[in-house]
Amino acid sequence: MIITIVGGGSTFTPGIVKSIALRKNELEVDEIRLFDLDKKRQDKVGILVRWILDEDLKCGIKLTITYDAEEAYKDADFIFAQMRVGKYAMRELDEKIPLRHGCVGQETCGCGGLAYGMRTIFPMIQVIDDAEKYAKPTYWILNYSNPASVVSEACRKLRPDARIINICDMPIAIIDMVAAALNIKDKHNIVYDYYGLNHFGWFTGIEYKGEDMMPKIRDYIMEQEILLPSAYLKDKAALAGKSNDNKTNRHAKGSWYYVWKGVYEIMKNFPDTLPNTYLNYYLQQKEFVEHSDPNHTRANEVMETREKNLFDGIDKYLASGEIDETVFYAGSHGDWIADLAIALKNDTKARFLVITENKGAIPNMPYDAMVEVPAYIGKKGPEVIAQDNIPLFQQGMMMQQLNCEKLLVEGCIEGSYQKVLEAFTLNKTVPSMKVAKEILDDLMEANKEYWPTLK
Ligand code: G6P
Ligand code: MN
Repeated sequence: MIITIVGGGSTFTPGIVKSIALRKNELEVDEIRLFDLDKKRQDKVGILVRWILDEDLKCGIKLTITYDAEEAYKDADFIFAQMRVGKYAMRELDEKIPLRHGCVGQETCGCGGLAYGMRTIFPMIQVIDDAEKYAKPTYWILNYSNPASVVSEACRKLRPDARIINICDMPIAIIDMVAAALNIKDKHNIVYDYYGLNHFGWFTGIEYKGEDMMPKIRDYIMEQEILLPSAYLKDKAALAGKSNDNKTNRHAKGSWYYVWKGVYEIMKNFPDTLPNTYLNYYLQQKEFVEHSDPNHTRANEVMETREKNLFDGIDKYLASGEIDETVFYAGSHGDWIADLAIALKNDTKARFLVITENKGAIPNMPYDAMVEVPAYIGKKGPEVIAQDNIPLFQQGMMMQQLNCEKLLVEGCIEGSYQKVLEAFTLNKTVPSMKVAKEILDDLMEANKEYWPTLK
């Protein structure tokens, strides 16, 4: 059993490898392969990964670190894809360019997300083609490369038969917060209902051991005026983005604060559902821009903390032989990906949220929309749970976003500037056609090396 991690140089790789290794028996994994195009970065991360496998856990899993596609994919069973095309340097531009025009600057939402999508579509198709060529015919790609909504639509359109499942950890990160806020220790007993597009959805029900938890979580948020557990609220330094360690939940630091605050703002007006945190960017566009610093965005925070901690920690290990495990994150994120692989491999029919072709699961959304909905996962892939029609407010928002993303993907495939401009104009974070064009032109210039040519 071979697992290949595409984007091996990611700051998340050590945590994911640890989650895999801790599930060695269920996954029956013999070998983990790291694959990246950035040799320097992956070699560094590889040092820590080797320490985790050989010294920390002594688990006997073979590690291969490679920069060659054939070596990476040959006979692989699972491919975990987490590429970040353009790395944090381009994320910084995705965030800062729209902000210069007074619009939301975010890595996966609004114009920044569209720009990132245009960089990622074709590299992701390359992963599928390489997997088809070299991996076992029963391969599964678990893709959490962002922006997952655009990427998954491109995969559906260009490679409809690929064995790929697109996923996102934000809903489980929200459930983690809910559990911590309500003091629920056994969060695996929480079952939730949800619908949406990726980074654009709503929880309609949260149950814990059969009890409806929606009233409790709503009361908690209304009382605290935020969805953060009280322990996190006490850590003022972390919330201000000032603490320089990885001990606190990464979603509870720096500018993420506004995101959890925004859940309260949204629920004050729309109390029936628990919104995905990313809806802030579409419902509080103006407020987001107001509290953003156009010269210092989330990309800067990440480079100054998560990235720096990891690479400094590895340098320190090389110099002193000592590892401080807080330099990397392990837990929820990696656990959930590894658990999904277990469900596929061992046919457990465990319930996960996945981004998948609608095919009628939400009756009043198009058949071919890539939606995020709960499904039972077994060896044949997701068995999606059908839902009822969704309300007009949510459906209207989703249709606008969906058509924006579909136009973007069509624009990339056809090389059509016109369609991409329509996509930018249709996005809810953009106030006018003129602003859409200005942002698009600036992003096009910044992405010269990465985007398909638009005519
Ligand atoms: C959540 C989302 C991911 C996103 C990440 C960004 O986990 O689901 O899609 O990449 O947040 O976190 P960061 O710490 O890099 O801002
Ligand atoms: Mn996500």
